[in-house]
Amino acid sequence: MATERSLILFKPDAVQRRLCGELLSRIENRGLKIVGLKMLKITKELSAQHYAEHVEKPFYPLLEEFITSGPVVALVVEGPEAISVMRGMMGSTNGRESAPGTIRGDFGLSRQMNLIHGSDGPDAAEREIPIYFNPEELVEYETTLGDWVCADDER
Ligand code: RTP
Ligand code: MG
Repeated sequence: MATERSLILFKPDAVQRRLCGELLSRIENRGLKIVGLKMLKITKELSAQHYAEHVEKPFYPLLEEFITSGPVVALVVEGPEAISVMRGMMGSTNGRESAPGTIRGDFGLSRQMNLIHGSDGPDAAEREIPIYFNPEELVEYETTLGDWVCADDER
């Protein structure tokens, strides 16, 4: 088991629908640690960098229009297997097919306006985190509750 970091975005629909507090609470309540946090507007250039694997796909123009349409909140979250834990909390891509209890399944009905992005694996996290955060913007710290979130051999 490994401590991991994942790049999370609260997408423009989450900001516009004032769901940032709700989404942040879910992440904190799960026991994950916020080690980076900022608000920004994604430019077309940044969108192409972030969604490099999708740039040539037919749906990319609409994806670009959506992700650049308003501010997003970018976070780096840390914890044991944080990448897959976050993907589980997010639910599947299409909100209509997402299980109740997941973020997309509880708050979404759309494939495009699906509220949240999370790195889909360790390679993606390693690539995506530096797109949004300089090393000095990521904060190393311990929380007093950390000892109660999981056992030593799970970190
Ligand atoms: P994300 O990268 O945003 O966290 O979402 P994801 O992993 O669940 O989905 P991914 O396959 O990486 O797709 C990225 C975003 O592109 C839009 N999409 N549209 N029209 C389509 O067929 C289609 N497929 C994907 C979605 O907004 C998805 O979040
Ligand atoms: Mg993806």
